[in-house]
Amino acid sequence: FYGALISPTSLTTYLALPHALISVSPAGEIEWLEHDVPASQLQDVLARHGLLSDIEIVELRKGEFLIPGFIDTHTHAPQVPNMGSGQEHELLDWLAEVTFPMEARFADVGFARRAYPSVVRRYIDSGTTTCCYYGTLHLESTKALAEIVHANGQRAFVGKCNMDRNSPDYYIEPSPQASVQATLELIAHIRSLPRIRSSDHGKPSSAEALVRPVLTPRFAISCSPELLASLGALAESDRSLAIQTHISENESEVVFTKSLFPPEVLPAALSPVHGPVTYAGVYEAYGLLRENTILAHAVHLEPTEVDIIKRTRAGVSHCPTSNFNLRSGCAKIGILLDEGIKVGLGTDVSGGFSPSILTAVQHASICSKVVALQSPSDSAVAGAGKFASRQLPVATLLHLATLGGAQVCNLADRIGSLAPGKAFDALVVSVRSDAGNPALWGVDLDQDFGLGQVEGEGGRHKSEKELEAMLERFLFCGDDRNIRRVYVQGRLIGGKEFMA
Ligand code: GUN
Ligand code: FE
Repeated sequence: FYGALISPTSLTTYLALPHALISVSPAGEIEWLEHDVPASQLQDVLARHGLLSDIEIVELRKGEFLIPGFIDTHTHAPQVPNMGSGQEHELLDWLAEVTFPMEARFADVGFARRAYPSVVRRYIDSGTTTCCYYGTLHLESTKALAEIVHANGQRAFVGKCNMDRNSPDYYIEPSPQASVQATLELIAHIRSLPRIRSSDHGKPSSAEALVRPVLTPRFAISCSPELLASLGALAESDRSLAIQTHISENESEVVFTKSLFPPEVLPAALSPVHGPVTYAGVYEAYGLLRENTILAHAVHLEPTEVDIIKRTRAGVSHCPTSNFNLRSGCAKIGILLDEGIKVGLGTDVSGGFSPSILTAVQHASICSKVVALQSPSDSAVAGAGKFASRQLPVATLLHLATLGGAQVCNLADRIGSLAPGKAFDALVVSVRSDAGNPALWGVDLDQDFGLGQVEGEGGRHKSEKELEAMLERFLFCGDDRNIRRVYVQGRLIGGKEFMA
């Protein structure tokens, strides 16, 4: 690929390369990245890397750039048909009135097989190359979800909800044993899916799996102590198993959770809890917090919970669209970032009303501004860290959507940025007028990077600044019309040009 490229390098920095050349192997691995290749030197650079001139080169046009694929660290596939309905409720009423009735329909595998293909297609075409999906509590329908994700070539974690209490009669598992048994069957099924790479021409290979299972205790409220203990034991028996759940999303939820897990209920042997029980303390007591645990929301964390999350190296999925929409609150993400806690973004459909990580980026920005507005004053936070009580800069928003998400998924060595040794999970973004998004009209009028430019230092600096400006406008005004191509592991799997 030859053209403009953007890739995060830290929470506050990213590469903006107007003339990058990136090499992707037939197996979809990034082999090398040259930062600045004038068109006149393209053949020389290829020759230096031992590549013949007849190699296939995808040349990006003016107004297009490569960016790492988005990582959605938290969403619910069976809730997509509910997107935008029942938004007047807070969490617990919304679950009972809106969410559980829809999820219950997935008892019918036929319904799941009809509904899920368009769900997965929407996430992919929104630019999500890795997605952490909750299914329903149903084994067969969640198997179908995993198969559909697999068939579409998306990288993903797929879990079936564990829920054996505080759920309606029509949507509850009969016992902890049944819940764990179905979970084991789903894990085995997902791990048996063939591993296919673009270079394999359909033949299974020993490549890493794109679709992985994830333990999914829905939230502490819907799991009996016996169920959480069994899931903790299952997690301990297989440290590679990812875990996802909800934490401290809504104030009534936190109060109810604490009432369900008084100290005498918790298994002291697993992890003695000192002081009052907290929501995070419950999960820790059952052995469910570790480096591959994804905790969604984290809006109402107490300081001791921040310590627990930091100590256990679990990651947080920030779901600002949902947190605004269900009136849950504004998560204080800056505090977590200052503590070095891993943070990614989640769309949390249908608490959130959009499957696009771009919407989550926009609301993460607004959320950080609300938190900053509500903070006493700049002087009051002067001694605080870099992020607390401040609005998140563009570089940080980009990081949350990509590399931060990869860290939360414990996959930062494989995805999240465009760097040699990682998989080519990437988007071709176009902010050109012909992409058809009027909100971005004019972005491509003045920019002078793209193919065929030979520039001095001044020109290079200018085109870098233009690329940065383009990124910001894409993050705030872009949508799926601007996502032209979606690649996972080097395979083209979606985007506007994929369907066309
Ligand atoms: N907590 C438990 N279940 C859910 C869910 O489906 N969505 C959200 N946002 N929070 C939850
Ligand atoms: Fe959720």
